[in-house]
Amino acid sequence: MLLTRRIPSAVLRPLEAACRVDLYDGPSPVPVEELKHRLAGQQALICLLTDPISADVLDASADLKIVANIAVGYDNIDVTHAKRRGIVVTNTPDVLTEAVAEFTWALILAAARRLGEGERLVRRGEWKGWALDFMLGTELRGKQLGIVGRGRIGQAVAAKAPAFGMRVAFAARQGRPIAGDELSFDELLIGSDVITLHVSHTARTHHLFDRRTFARMKRSALLVNTSRGPVVDEEALGWALTERLLAGAALDVYEREPQVHPSLMNLDNVVLSPHLGSATRDTRTAMAELAVRNVLAVLTGQEPITPV
Ligand code: GLV
Repeated sequence: MLLTRRIPSAVLRPLEAACRVDLYDGPSPVPVEELKHRLAGQQALICLLTDPISADVLDASADLKIVANIAVGYDNIDVTHAKRRGIVVTNTPDVLTEAVAEFTWALILAAARRLGEGERLVRRGEWKGWALDFMLGTELRGKQLGIVGRGRIGQAVAAKAPAFGMRVAFAARQGRPIAGDELSFDELLIGSDVITLHVSHTARTHHLFDRRTFARMKRSALLVNTSRGPVVDEEALGWALTERLLAGAALDVYEREPQVHPSLMNLDNVVLSPHLGSATRDTRTAMAELAVRNVLAVLTGQEPITPV
């Protein structure tokens, strides 16, 4: 089997005991040509969200049985082609839900209280001291948290909202009856004080947030994205933040990671974090372990644990 990045040794050791492992141990993602070369003849691949697993890559091995992504999102994999070829694709749901939900709240609070902006100011040596009207932010209590995406992470974010006194509204899914705690997408845009995104990236969610969407939101609103970068049109977000159509944003994911749209780089009203949603020691180990369990299950003729 091929592993595209070193995983914690507590998880790697049992994998190596069970099968022959080709570990790509580079500091950055394996180049595609090398990935294809190494994949030839392999039955299993454990990869990361930074590895583009196109049809071409999948076809580099005629023997491939499973692609185990160490991520809950799997927009880096051509799942349609994998299905066509009978290759199992697995992801790592559940084990990262709490870590991502906690991080989402870190970003909500950071955006609401202008934490990034304040930190940068202190480090520049520009802080002149406490003042009554200095760097005032938004209080969360009594405000509406609009959640786009009612999956595990969206629900885990919602579960923490009462602690901050926020009212939750989920965006209703298109074509489904609207539940009691749901609003149409448009109503959610118009009425929410904070909007947080927890959808996967598909053709339907690509640039779901664009110029039109930002123009519908409250001028005092904050946008938080810990899902996938391309759900937000970054250029449009830069425009909306510059024009003050939105009060602020916090992003953990970007359209072309690790690049960030230049229009966002110098804006003070956006918090930029480097895709850290699931980045805790416990969670990353659990994600790698789940990928390994999926591979070992499929290689021993059992059902995968978390197929997509
Ligand atoms: C992280 O972004 C993941 O999909 O797990």
